[in-house]
Order: sequence, then C-alpha cells, then structure tokens
Amino acid sequence: MITIRNLVKSYDRKVNAVDIDSLNIREGEIFGFLGPNGAGKTSTLRMMVGILPPDKGSIVINGYDIEREPLAAKREFGYVSDDPNLFLRLRGMDYLNFLGDMYDVPQDDRKRRIGELGERFELTHALGNRIQSFSHGMRQKLVLIGALLHDPGVWIMDEPMTGLDPKSSFALKEMMRRQADAGKTVLFSTHVLDTAEKVCDRVAIIHRGKILFLGTMEEMRDHFGQNESLEKLFLEITGEA
Ligand SMILES: Nc1ncnc2c1ncn2[C@@H]1O[C@H](COP(=O)(O)OP(=O)(O)OP(=O)(O)O)[C@@H](O)[C@H]1O
Ligand SMILES: [Mg+2]
Repeated sequence: MITIRNLVKSYDRKVNAVDIDSLNIREGEIFGFLGPNGAGKTSTLRMMVGILPPDKGSIVINGYDIEREPLAAKREFGYVSDDPNLFLRLRGMDYLNFLGDMYDVPQDDRKRRIGELGERFELTHALGNRIQSFSHGMRQKLVLIGALLHDPGVWIMDEPMTGLDPKSSFALKEMMRRQADAGKTVLFSTHVLDTAEKVCDRVAIIHRGKILFLGTMEEMRDHFGQNESLEKLFLEITGEA
C-alpha cells in the first residue's frame, strides 16, 4: 500500500512539477501512471522511493514514511528507475550480489532467485560479463532482476518495459499479475497505452503534475464514452486531441 498526501514538488518555484492531493495505491492491484512527457511521473516515483525530497507532503509505504523512516520504507519496495545505465564496470553477477548484500538476502534465497529470474529474463548466460557490454534491453533486465531480488511487497517501476523484447515484456507483465493477485502492490509508469489498458486494474492520468483522471478503465469509459480506445481518451483528457 502506498499513501500519498498533499505532495508538492517544484524545480523552479514557479510551476509545480508535481501537485497531488491524495492518492492510495492498494494491495492487490496493478496501478498505471500515465501522462505525456514532462507530466511529473518520474518526479513522483523518485519522491516515493526517497531519491528526490518533496517540497511538501508525505508518502507512506506499507506503513513507513519514506522521509521519517527511510530504511524501513526502502525494505518494503523494489525500484526500477528510468535509466538502467548504472554500475557499468561491474559484472552482472557482482551487481546482483551487491544488491543482495544491501538487502540482506540470504545466500540460498539469492542463488535461487537469481537462477529463477535469470531464466525468466534469459539473462543467466551474460551475468559473468561487465554491464557495459550489455545491450540496453539486457541492462533493463538486470535492473529488474536486482529490484526483485529481495522479493519486495511493493514494486515501483518507471517505464519498466522500455527496451524489453516481447518475450521478456510478457514475462514481466505475467509476474506483475501474479504479484498483485498474491495481494502485493504494483505501480509502474508507461507510455504504452495498450499495455496499460490490458494490464492495469486502475490508472492515473497525470498532466502538468496533477492527476486528471483516477480510476479503472471501465470508469474511464463510463465517464468519457464507451467504445473509445485508451489512446483517444488519453488525448482528450490531457487536451492533446
Ligand atoms: N532536475 C530537474 N530540474 C528541473 N526541472 C526538472 C527536473 N526534473 C524534472 N523537471 C521538470 O519537471 C517536470 C516533470 O518531469 P518528469 O521527469 O517527472 O516527467 P515524466 O512524466 O517522467 O516525463 P517523461 O514521460 O518524459 O519521462 C517537467 O516539466 C520537467 O521539465
Ligand atoms: Mg519519466
């Protein structure tokens, strides 16, 4: 469960990059963050995970306030940032072991999970190589495996399907579903509206830092018109039609 209250962030003190009164992302749901470039998705996610300090407001993850109890809060989630180009000089396996150490993942669990996730994303063969030799998609897969290594109850992912081939993207979506069905929380941002439409239980459409729509696909259609594609609704809601 993620609870946001009165969250405000401004980079230039003139316009608010993020301005969210209230948002609850519940256990058991896949929640999609949608919005045009510059809408404030990444800024919001970065505040949730404690990388970016908010100007105002609070974010509570599974009962822990990210600013007041950052370490406890951080144990609750796995985070995939929008940039997988990190620790390029490490070998894949060293990166995963580094994360395993950070999150106190016991050796047995670590081995099993790296084995399972490596198979799932077909990356096992490359884990002995340096990350700088990886393709973009391979880096993305490595970051995903690392984020899921400690089996977090909350997934926070910024455009996680970017660069993934269809098979891996399918695997990720399937894992998201299973995770949510097991009562955990999955939040991700995406520009791929087809994916959002198929995968998400609820979505928020964000524009200029504010949530313009929050609800299920069904509710969106009830409100804005049946038989409309999410693309059309999205363009209408964000005024770009
Ligand atoms: N470091 C920064 N300094 C100044 N302004 C920033 C900074 N980071 C983001 N912004 C501004 O904040 C707003 C929100 O940006 P953000 O990256 O959160 O959007 P986004 O929804 O993730 O966009 P995208 O779809 O392109 O990833 C934008 O108007 C952007 O120009
Ligand atoms: Mg972004």
